[in-house]
Amino acid sequence: MSDSRGKGADLPASAKATAGASKLARDREASEGGQAPRRPWWLASAVALVGVVVFWTLGAGAQAQSPSEASIAAGRRIYLQKADCQACHGWAGDGEKMDSQAPDGANLRMSQLDRDQLVFVIKCGLPGRDMPAFDRLAYTDDRCLGRTRADLRRMGLELFDPGATLQSREVERLTDFLLAKVVRQGSMDRAKCIDFWGEEVDVCSEFPR
Ligand code: HEC
Repeated sequence: MSDSRGKGADLPASAKATAGASKLARDREASEGGQAPRRPWWLASAVALVGVVVFWTLGAGAQAQSPSEASIAAGRRIYLQKADCQACHGWAGDGEKMDSQAPDGANLRMSQLDRDQLVFVIKCGLPGRDMPAFDRLAYTDDRCLGRTRADLRRMGLELFDPGATLQSREVERLTDFLLAKVVRQGSMDRAKCIDFWGEEVDVCSEFPR
């Protein structure tokens, strides 16, 4: 009798586990003497596979959902006020810094970082490159690549002091804002300026139509 076990090799682990479990159940029924009804081996796997695909699709859909206007506006306030990112990166994130004494921040509008990388850089900063770490507990435990402040000192990497630290959910709002209005959005123009502020503010008249 040709066995079906090998055929599950390419299925996701959960589908394989289900196939395995139904095989076990069949064996048990068989050993209890009853003539087990022969369900085709692939039925359980197919059902499990559909489940996995639906789960993935729903999960991806939830993630792709765009953040609310309120959360983007909250992120903008954190960027401009609480964390004062604009001191080094400029209000538009283009690197035209607001404080001439501040270090030259990167042009965030040209940044290629994805969401996770943005969150990481904001929380852990860039030691040795004047980008502060905004997580109060950065470099106190393993959250920043497992390094501590002592490690950074040993490596000769200075960490710039943030004006204020941010909670995790503030970093999430800030990142929502950056991805919606700044990162990979190209250079500022009048339309983007109005969209950035949510209304036609004075500074927008500096940009060509
Ligand atoms: C004291 C100045 C300063 C402040 C304040 C500051 N940054 Fe930075 N930031 C920098 C510098 C300097 C760099 C790195 C420039 C380089 O060496 O590439 C940087 C880099 C970054 C990068 C990496 C960009 C890339 O593509 O590599 C991100 C993202 C970033 N900053 C976001 C922020 C955000 C968000 C805030 C506010 C929470 C902020 N920064 C506050 C100075 C600052």
